[in-house]
Amino acid sequence: MTHNVTLIPGDGIGPEITRAVRKIIEASGVNICWEVVEAGAAVIPEYGTPLPDHVINSIKKNKVAFKGPLTTPVGKGFRSVNVALRKELDLYANLRPAKSLPGIAARYSNIDLVVVRENTEDLYAGVEHMVGRDAAESIKIITREASKRIVKFAFDYAVKNNRKKVTAVHKANIMKLSDGLFLECAREVAEEYQNIEFEDVIVDAMCMKLVQDPGNYDVLVMPNLYGDIISDLCAGLIGGLGVAPGANIGSEVAIFEPVHGSAPDLAGKNKANPLAAVLSAVLMLKYLEEFQAAELIYNAVIEVLKEGIHLTNDLGGMSSTIEMTEAIIEKINQPSPLT
Ligand code: NAI
Repeated sequence: MTHNVTLIPGDGIGPEITRAVRKIIEASGVNICWEVVEAGAAVIPEYGTPLPDHVINSIKKNKVAFKGPLTTPVGKGFRSVNVALRKELDLYANLRPAKSLPGIAARYSNIDLVVVRENTEDLYAGVEHMVGRDAAESIKIITREASKRIVKFAFDYAVKNNRKKVTAVHKANIMKLSDGLFLECAREVAEEYQNIEFEDVIVDAMCMKLVQDPGNYDVLVMPNLYGDIISDLCAGLIGGLGVAPGANIGSEVAIFEPVHGSAPDLAGKNKANPLAAVLSAVLMLKYLEEFQAAELIYNAVIEVLKEGIHLTNDLGGMSSTIEMTEAIIEKINQPSPLT
């Protein structure tokens, strides 16, 4: 069967890492018909917007997209295309697994966490304005509907993936109304899942506990801004942005993308680590129910990491993006009897 998938190569290192993904998926034997569309600053001169309608329409039609990172101007200029896509397509759940990988220098080797971040509201919605010249106000919006929906997503994920515990992260001791509502919803939803353990932890304590003993946690669910921060913390725990995959999932449509940005310092140098993108592709293949190919690619990545020969700079190696990609493809073509 052929899957139709929209591909946004993205800015900076985006084209290099999405090229790696395409080659690796092709080697795994899955047929994907890629509809390549461009978004971001580069298309503004032609379309007058960083997110042209045909990009949105392509994703709506194909239902699944793979996206390279897009550069967002800081403090001024157009609003994040990433945030706009999540809003426009109602991709309400941001899924970021953080699993220890062999051969990667990290503080712990026993991490197997999944951060589920609410993707549509909270301070991250960017509803803000100036109050006179010398003050700015940003509005934090938390709704019952979005909170229940994301917590339900986290529990359903836990059930489907044989996970044991869901931890809701919040700051309801201080933001008693907004985070209080999120926590109330989490407790209500938890009642419906008697076989999954539930607990809640205040966000600052969560940061400390994750750094001290991440092995205690399983699925974490939280409002948007805490999710943004904690998922990067978790990426740091497993070895950094170069190996952190992500997915934005809605009820109709899903977009898969690495957690990292466009890394302008590495763009065009054939030095970017392709793994975060490749592991995002593994998530996409599972979503497409191509479980065998997903496992084949994941095991090939593990083999390359265990060997430790074909690693990019950020992982302490000397290999290029292309060399690491080829090493993964070689493992796909000759899977080890042990994997
Ligand atoms: P970044 O993630 O691009 O880079 C941070 C550091 O990590 C840099 O030193 C970079 O070289 C390194 N790095 C990132 N990905 C790597 C990879 N695959 N291999 C090896 N090293 C890697 O974050 P930064 O610099 O804050 O953002 C750059 C641009 O990317 C900004 O415009 C930002 O808005 C955008 N961005 C886009 C995202 C997306 O499209 N989903 C997510 C995060 C940032």
